[in-house]
Amino acid sequence: MTGARSLLLSVFAAIGLQLPAPASAQATRYEEPIRYRQAVMTLVKRHYDQVSGMVKGKLPFNREELNRHAAYLEMLSRVSLDGFVAGSHEGNTKARPEIWKEWARYRGLNEKFQAETTRLKEIARAGSPDAVKAVVADLTKVCKSCHDDFKDSSVGS
Ligand code: HEC
Repeated sequence: MTGARSLLLSVFAAIGLQLPAPASAQATRYEEPIRYRQAVMTLVKRHYDQVSGMVKGKLPFNREELNRHAAYLEMLSRVSLDGFVAGSHEGNTKARPEIWKEWARYRGLNEKFQAETTRLKEIARAGSPDAVKAVVADLTKVCKSCHDDFKDSSVGS
């Protein structure tokens, strides 16, 4: 604690006020990128669920819809890193600080995410439902391995 801060604290204590905690100041500072990446992941889940529902036979296999979802997934995989600004493990987030300590590995996983969604987009155009299913299985592994290592719980993968 700096001298100025402790002096302020004792003055504030004397008059019955509290200094805002540094943690909440940081939560505010990183609120925007955190919300951005959580929004991206929410959309990823939405489109992933549609594709996964089709290959599992829970939803009708519709080529046009499949292409649309695959295109969104590819786009989302390409903007995901924008929300992972340095230091933003502070706040209302499940992102582990390891993301920034092991940034090259995190970025590598995100590149795999991009590669699998690009492959999905290509195979979705004309591939058989089984071929699409195989890519979705590979994509699911990427979601899971990233969440296992870099997200606080695996819920939502
Ligand atoms: C390269 C790493 C990585 C990949 C790949 C990845 N995620 Fe995530 N995901 C994260 C991190 C980190 C968070 C936590 C973000 C936060 O709370 O700030 C997250 C959060 C989420 C959330 C919760 C969003 C919220 O509102 O809190 C969902 C749902 C999700 N991911 C789904 C998926 C799905 C589905 C896939 C694969 C199709 C996927 N993710 C791929 C890293 C990844």
